[in-house]
Amino acid sequence: MDQNTKKFNVAKAVIEYIHNDCILGMGTGSTVNFLIEMLPDVRNKISGIASSSLETERLLKSKGFDVQPLSDFGNMDLYIDGADEATKNLHLIKGGGGALTREKIIASSSRKFICIIDDSKLVDKLGQFPLPIEVIPMARSYVSREIIARKGQPIFRENFITDNGNEIIDVHNLDIVNPLTMEENINQITGVVTVGLFAKRKADILLLSNDDGVSEIRTEK
Ligand code: A5P
Repeated sequence: MDQNTKKFNVAKAVIEYIHNDCILGMGTGSTVNFLIEMLPDVRNKISGIASSSLETERLLKSKGFDVQPLSDFGNMDLYIDGADEATKNLHLIKGGGGALTREKIIASSSRKFICIIDDSKLVDKLGQFPLPIEVIPMARSYVSREIIARKGQPIFRENFITDNGNEIIDVHNLDIVNPLTMEENINQITGVVTVGLFAKRKADILLLSNDDGVSEIRTEK
């Protein structure tokens, strides 16, 4: 089965988790884009919707959804998003598409976070995928030196500005033994806006798509 079919299948599977009167947060990326295509089928269940990126907002609007600012809501009921890497502990690396900051904000303010992935994203240990870090532009070199001191190799993402007007450093070869500790440690470097480790606010449910179908992985919070 090809990867797009797996993405389609997991997007279809998550539809049944959208309950009546749902205040829904929508993630960003190609897996979520499959979901956006199907979302009009459950339009009557969605009572409010917020987006993690300008691109997702544009796609949702093209389907006739009234996308509202996150601040219009209290906590969201449900956040659905993909990931670049995930473990069975439901720790994630996100930000391959550069939307990590808004994604983390909505994930943090949601009662439930369902991560939808195909099996190419499931890893035993995070870090094969370069870890994205959104930085204030003037802090780029300083943050890079701090990352080198932590034995990572920072690569500036060229010709890319985030929806928040910031820049991205992709960090290669970090030894992420403890995702939560690493997230907290990188977060406190001055000039870092968001690190793409989702360990403090990990997923609540991982929907995993492979050749055999879609399975659900949960852990205790
Ligand atoms: C966007 O910044 C990312 O966090 C995406 O959620 C992640 O890259 C998954 O994207 P795909 O669904 O395109 O693989």
